[in-house]
Amino acid sequence: MARLFSARTLLTVVRTGNARARLRATRDGQAAVRLNLGAAGLATGVLDALDGGAAATPALARRLGGADEDLLGAFLGVLAAAGLVREAAAGWSLAPAGRAVVSDDLVRASYEAFAGFHTGLYRHLGELLAGGPGRRDVAEQGAVIARISAAFEPFVDDVLRETVAAVSPRRVLDAGCGAGLQLAAMLAAAPDAEGVGVDTDEGAAALAVRTLEQRGLAGRATIVPADVRELADEAAFDLALLANVVYYVAAEERAALFADVARRLVPGGTLLVVSTVATPQLFSRHFDLLLRAQEGRMSLPGAEDLAAGLRAAGLRPGEPRRIAPGAPLVAVAAVRPG
Ligand SMILES: C[S@@+](CC[C@H](N)C(=O)[O-])C[C@H]1O[C@@H](n2cnc3c(N)ncnc32)[C@H](O)[C@@H]1O
Repeated sequence: MARLFSARTLLTVVRTGNARARLRATRDGQAAVRLNLGAAGLATGVLDALDGGAAATPALARRLGGADEDLLGAFLGVLAAAGLVREAAAGWSLAPAGRAVVSDDLVRASYEAFAGFHTGLYRHLGELLAGGPGRRDVAEQGAVIARISAAFEPFVDDVLRETVAAVSPRRVLDAGCGAGLQLAAMLAAAPDAEGVGVDTDEGAAALAVRTLEQRGLAGRATIVPADVRELADEAAFDLALLANVVYYVAAEERAALFADVARRLVPGGTLLVVSTVATPQLFSRHFDLLLRAQEGRMSLPGAEDLAAGLRAAGLRPGEPRRIAPGAPLVAVAAVRPG
């Protein structure tokens, strides 16, 4: 196509207003379009329908239960421009990036979570600032939160293996075990140990039962759908884990939670706390805002607050350590004196 603009016009455009801010706004806008496009590709079922094989627009419209062909064709055009699908003689098919969205659950969950509640926060922030009711993402989006948290699993597993090697536990407790991945990792690293996973959320507890069965660890593990504070008050565990639980508890109640878990440790036993912490990083501040916008009194702790809370609970914490590159994820191990 012939070019109609001159170098002089380009220069005028660049010099008008704040060119850098304009570029940034455009880039951010396009990233938002790509994010919502991927999420819509999933929510409409278009990407999953193409996983069943290439199809022309009319056939795909039928696969989707009778979609508007004209609009669907235009939507597929956008997906193609974003590199998620491609068109050939056989019709539309998934491009490698689109195949990753349907087949890699972390990619799928990221589109769902970031186009959903993560950015929904900002669409509804005005109502929240005006005193509207708190959000219920933590209560209602537990499954997708657990799925995106899987991104940090390899790093947390490293810390768990290292801690299990140092403690050689016979009994481990995973307080707020979620899907039971960390309990499974601790039991795999300690082949003679038994474990208890506790979670207030019955759905999470059911997932944990499934994880342990799938990994052949059910015989050494008990999952209790309860608040960890309701567990039998006996000092029975050499190692307890609180992973990604602390920020769900009001700041002033955290030391009491640490003390509740510490009471279940044998003297000399270790409580390992893993948590996202408050830092100046964009994602940390965003996550803290998201927590503060929820019903209840949630917020990110600072790394030093974790150590102070553990001390207030009568434990001896070591240095908080960053455990994942570029992410505000910290582990602190604290010993029950005895
Ligand atoms: C973000 S999930 C983390 C799950 C898992 N530990 C992980 O890191 O993947 C936090 C879990 O803690 C549970 N939880 C929060 N407070 C709890 C308490 N007092 N007792 C037991 N479970 C609790 C929630 O139900 C939720 O499943």
